[in-house]
Amino acid sequence: MKILVTGGAGYIGSHIVLELCDEGYDVLVLDDLSLGNESSVDKRAEFIKGSTLDEQILKKLMPEVDGIIHLASFKSAGESMINPSVYTQNNIEGTLRLIDVMSSYNKKNIIFSSTAAVYGNPQYLPVDENHQTNPINYYGFTKLMIENTLGWYKDLKGFNFIALRYFNAAGYDKENRILNLENKPQNLIPIIMECAAGIRRSMQIFGDDYNTPDGTCLRDYIHVTDLAKAHINALRRINDNNTIFINLGTGFTHSVYDVIRTVEKITSKKINYSVTNRREGDPAKLYSSSSFAKKSLGWVAKNSDLENIIKTTWSIYKTRV
Ligand code: UFG
Repeated sequence: MKILVTGGAGYIGSHIVLELCDEGYDVLVLDDLSLGNESSVDKRAEFIKGSTLDEQILKKLMPEVDGIIHLASFKSAGESMINPSVYTQNNIEGTLRLIDVMSSYNKKNIIFSSTAAVYGNPQYLPVDENHQTNPINYYGFTKLMIENTLGWYKDLKGFNFIALRYFNAAGYDKENRILNLENKPQNLIPIIMECAAGIRRSMQIFGDDYNTPDGTCLRDYIHVTDLAKAHINALRRINDNNTIFINLGTGFTHSVYDVIRTVEKITSKKINYSVTNRREGDPAKLYSSSSFAKKSLGWVAKNSDLENIIKTTWSIYKTRV
């Protein structure tokens, strides 16, 4: 079975490609390398440099694929509010082109990489799949728009799709098969890691006056290998037809201080930080219910305890010290 992974050279995509290859799938990776790295693509997979905006490439690849895992997109919520047009182009236009070409070649199976950002400010916790969708950043909107489009194509064209809504993805393959660091990371864990590795001198904590036990925000960190495994389960169930939107989180939370302390413990490095103003759009607490993922995919997170996330990440970053 041949699976096309768009964005398969990126941080999450390359981990999914590893899992697919380990499970014996034929894998074709399409990535324009704007964020990804060709050397992150497992040698068992075939790599093609290109964009989902390029209809000709899509038309060339489509006849040979049996299913698609679509990740190729930009993913920085903050940047999407400053420069929405690149998100319109990459996340919306690129995906619409992909869907269109899929449809014209009668290809119907797609796993879509979505995000907890589609929910916006949580109205209750843990967030489950019935929570209203009301994104508060443009990035979240682009993902929701594609979810909605896929819903229409399901009804109109018989598409089978599963949208996996990721919470806070982190960690690295435990066998150190992915070696590339994220370029200019915006997320907490790689930023703290850059401090531990001496790539940056210090970091900022965006607010410690939230209504949480230590005043910093609580998040649901999920190991990227667990995320990747969920995609395999989703592929196996893509034809079930009644499972569409699934949260991928653990149901557990950690504060910013928890993460800093765990990094200090595991790396034996002191993290320099200062506390600054709250970042716009940050909810105090965000975590997922994982019960639907368990029920619908038979999936539970097995690698996502914080120490394991930090250990697997440090084993890559420490080589840069
Ligand atoms: N944080 C800091 N300093 C930093 C970076 C982050 O204090 O330099 C804090 C944030 O304020 C937040 C926490 O660390 O409280 C986590 O922030 P991230 O930027 O790592 O992650 P977010 O929770 O903001 O968002 C991430 C993804 C989104 C996704 C969301 C789902 O970037 O795409 O998780 O939970 F939607």
